[in-house]
Amino acid sequence: MIAHLFNAPLGESETAVGVGTVGSSEAIMLAGLAFKRKWQKKRKAEGKPCDQPNIVTGANVQVCWEKFPRYFEVELKEVKLREGYYVMDPEKAVEMVDENTICVAAILGSTLNGEFEDVKLLNDLLTEKNKETGWETPIHVDAASGGFIAAIGEEHQC
Ligand SMILES: Cc1ncc(COP(=O)(O)O)c(C=O)c1O
Repeated sequence: MIAHLFNAPLGESETAVGVGTVGSSEAIMLAGLAFKRKWQKKRKAEGKPCDQPNIVTGANVQVCWEKFPRYFEVELKEVKLREGYYVMDPEKAVEMVDENTICVAAILGSTLNGEFEDVKLLNDLLTEKNKETGWETPIHVDAASGGFIAAIGEEHQC
């Protein structure tokens, strides 16, 4: 029902996989846990330690991104903001990624000023780093507010 509500491009015989939550914080807790478990599973299979997971975000994130690592024993690595630049810098974020990074979180609709972060550049840089290192660090896009408008292609805009 939810997939149809959001016009997910599903074929006749396809079924959507996902979960409805009461808000973005719950969605982020569940997504964060899924990232952590997936990373742990991969690390175990490789015979590598999996007890020091971390997550990379900008310092401008909504407070639920500080709650997730605290509740679920993950280190929070925040990209600091600087004068005149109040969202996560994708280059700095990717520099902070290491083998223990379970995901990089970007936000569409920064909590401080509503600005969209550069997810495309983040993805390009992270894809490059993943290729070089063999890691599979994913991105979580927190589209708590921006998700209602970001997904609209130009041809659908009023
Ligand atoms: C970017 C962002 N992420 C997460 C949240 C948390 O959402 P909720 O209050 O629905 O749990 C908010 C709420 O303002 C937000 O702006």
